[in-house]
Amino acid sequence: MDSEADVVATELVHVGGLPFLGSLFPIRRNALGFFSRMLREHGDRVQLRVLGRKVILLCHPDDIEEVLVRDRDSFGRSAEIQKLRPIFGNGLLASDGAFWRRQRNIVQPSFQHNAMTDYTSIMLECISKQLSEWRIGEVRDIHADMMRYTRETICSVLFGSEFAANNPEITNAVSVVFGDLRAEVLYLPIWRRLPFARNIRWNRAVKLLNRSVRTIIGERRSCADAGNDLLGSLLSAHDSDGYTMSDEQLHDEILTLFLAGHETAALSLTLSTTTQPPFSTPVVYLRESGVSTLYTSNRCSFDYYLA
Ligand code: HEM
Repeated sequence: MDSEADVVATELVHVGGLPFLGSLFPIRRNALGFFSRMLREHGDRVQLRVLGRKVILLCHPDDIEEVLVRDRDSFGRSAEIQKLRPIFGNGLLASDGAFWRRQRNIVQPSFQHNAMTDYTSIMLECISKQLSEWRIGEVRDIHADMMRYTRETICSVLFGSEFAANNPEITNAVSVVFGDLRAEVLYLPIWRRLPFARNIRWNRAVKLLNRSVRTIIGERRSCADAGNDLLGSLLSAHDSDGYTMSDEQLHDEILTLFLAGHETAALSLTLSTTTQPPFSTPVVYLRESGVSTLYTSNRCSFDYYLA
C-alpha cells in the first residue's frame, strides 16, 4: 500500500446535474452517501453545481489543509458563513484577517489544557444526568438527545452548571435558532423575511437570545467576581497589548460558540453511536448489554437491528 506521503490528489473532475438545480436533490436526500460516492467514482477533487453555484468538493488532506490553514486568507469565509454575519455578528467563525487574528489570541487561553479539563468534567456531568433518564427497553431519537446534550453542555460551560435548568426559555431559544440551521442556511436571508409562522418563531428566538446574552454579560460585568466559567474567562481575557473584548464582541463570540459547536458536536456524537452510515435520523434501542442502532429510514429499520 502507498505510504501517506505518496498519495497525491487527483485532477479536478466536473460532475453535471440538472439545469440550475445541479446536484441539489441527491445532496438533500443523502449528503454523506452522495459525497462518498463522488469520492469513490471521481476522486478527491470534484466540481459540482448546486442552485447555479459552483461547489468544489475537496477530500484530500493536503487540499483541506491548504484551504483551512496554509492559504486560509485567500479563501476567506464561505458564502454561508458570510450570510450569517448580519445575524450572529463578527465572532471567530465569521471574522477575517487581522481582526480574526487578534480575537483568536484573546480567546485561545480560555481553551488551553487546564480549562479543557474543567470543561470535560462538565461534559461528563451533563451526559450522566441525561443517561440517568434513559430506560432499558426504550427506543430513542439519538440525534435529538445529542442536540440536547451539546446545548446543555455549551450553556453550562459558558454560564455555569445550573444555567440550563434555571433558564429554560433561553435554552429553548438556542434550540429554535440553532436546531436545524445547517439545513436552512442556504436560503436564510430570503426565508427569514417571509411572514411564515416558523420564520416569526425563529426571528423571535434570535431576538430573545441576543437580548438574554447581552443581559447576562451586563450582569456579570457589574459583579466583583467575573466567575469561573467560560464567560468569566472571556470577560477577563486580553491580548499581549492589554486589549480586551467589548460587550458587543463578547456577545458575538458567545453566539459563535453556539453556532459552531452545537449541531456539529451533536452530529459527530450521533454518528459515533451508529455502526452504519445514517440514511436518516438514527434512533437507539437500549438493552442491558448496550445500545443497538435503528434507523427511521425504510431502508434500514428494525430488520437491521435483528440482523
Ligand atoms: C465534532 C464537532 C466539530 C466539528 C466537525 C467542527 C468543525 C470545524 C471546522 C471545519 C472549522 C473551521 C471553519 C472555517 O475555518 O471556516 C471550525 C471552526 C470553529 N469551531 Fe468547530 N467543529 C466542531 C465542534 C466545535 C465545538 C464543540 C465548538 C465550541 C463550542 C467549536 C467552535 C469553533 C470555533 C469558535 C471555530 C472558529 C475558529 C477560528 O476560526 O478561530 N467547534 N470547526
